[in-house]
Amino acid sequence: MLATCAEGRPFGLIPKGAVALAGNRIAWVGSKRDVPAALPKNCVVTEANYALVTPGLIDCHTHLVWAGSRFKEFQQRLQGASYEDIARAGGGIASTVAATRAASEADLLTAALARAAKYIAEGVTTIEIKSGYGLDKDNELKILRVARALGKRLGIHVRTTLLAAHAVPPEFKDRPDEYINKVCEEILPTAHAEGLADAVDAYCDTVGFTAAQVERVFVKAKELGLAVKLHAEQFSNQQGAALAAKYKALSADHLEQLDQDGVAAMAAARTVAVLLPGAYTYLRETKLPPIELLRVNRVPIAVASDLNPGTSPLASLQLSMHLACTAFGLTTEEALLGVTRNAARALGLRKLLGSIEPGKIADIVIWNAEHPAELAAQFGLIRPAAVLRAGVA
Ligand code: NIG
Ligand code: FE
Repeated sequence: MLATCAEGRPFGLIPKGAVALAGNRIAWVGSKRDVPAALPKNCVVTEANYALVTPGLIDCHTHLVWAGSRFKEFQQRLQGASYEDIARAGGGIASTVAATRAASEADLLTAALARAAKYIAEGVTTIEIKSGYGLDKDNELKILRVARALGKRLGIHVRTTLLAAHAVPPEFKDRPDEYINKVCEEILPTAHAEGLADAVDAYCDTVGFTAAQVERVFVKAKELGLAVKLHAEQFSNQQGAALAAKYKALSADHLEQLDQDGVAAMAAARTVAVLLPGAYTYLRETKLPPIELLRVNRVPIAVASDLNPGTSPLASLQLSMHLACTAFGLTTEEALLGVTRNAARALGLRKLLGSIEPGKIADIVIWNAEHPAELAAQFGLIRPAAVLRAGVA
């Protein structure tokens, strides 16, 4: 059974399907009995007889490169401290920044490779990786280089996102605007010049930056021709989603506090809502993102792991799909489209990845499963039987 994740029917299902590959691309998709007699010479036709076939999974929001551990904060929170309390007391992101700055590029790569291996084992073929634990030029670039190296080493697609506006670094304590100057004048232009950033993100919240500060970063990113995304409306509503939409952001992520106006702005800009049920669950939040409003307004919904040491230490996109259903009430189809078609859109890759359709890159997973709903309905029971990355097994 082919779950193409293309538009049109649930899961893009083709019960007895076949796919023809030409090199690294998909040449033809359809019903087995309709395989055209005249396909390009180099086409290899694969029939999906007994197994389930889906596009390669895409995690469109991770902070996969870091050093250190934040398990003590987890314990503190279980005893009643909030994420914001811990951040204000100098823990939180700042503690990961200290450990990441102290780590060598080689050690960061070793740790990141081990984390990425977990994703690969569950059928992930594309990962977005953010910086944001360096917070100065050298360390932000170090993280982005590790992300690029990881993609090359593992043969997966890695999209890098510069998240220099993640937190105020200790050397700029109480001077956030000066740090934003540095982001705009130094860190962002250098990352761009070195080809290390595919997009630019920021953290708009009480423990992050104000909408006005984020806007300065977005203006600079747009000036350089870079796409933007935003950590928005996680703990408080700063009208971040509307700001993201104003700059035609690829995505706004988290969104537990998103309101009707934010939804409408995202719908108009076709900005993807990236839901992060791992962070919601790990922080034991109780306010759900406005899922029904997103549906009614036809905002594309993606699901990601948000892998990071502070708010979502779970290296599993499959668990994220499962939590998207159990904690957020997504359907199994929304969960799968959230890690395929809509995740590709959240990375600006909708023409190349995210579904099994002619012309797209042949990232394809074959599962020992009967139906695509199973991928979100269970956790840890179903693993890929085979994975094609750009047409190569
Ligand atoms: O996506 N919210 C901001 N950024 C991360 C958390 C980073 C951290 O606490 O280390 C997130 O949840
Ligand atoms: Fe995040």
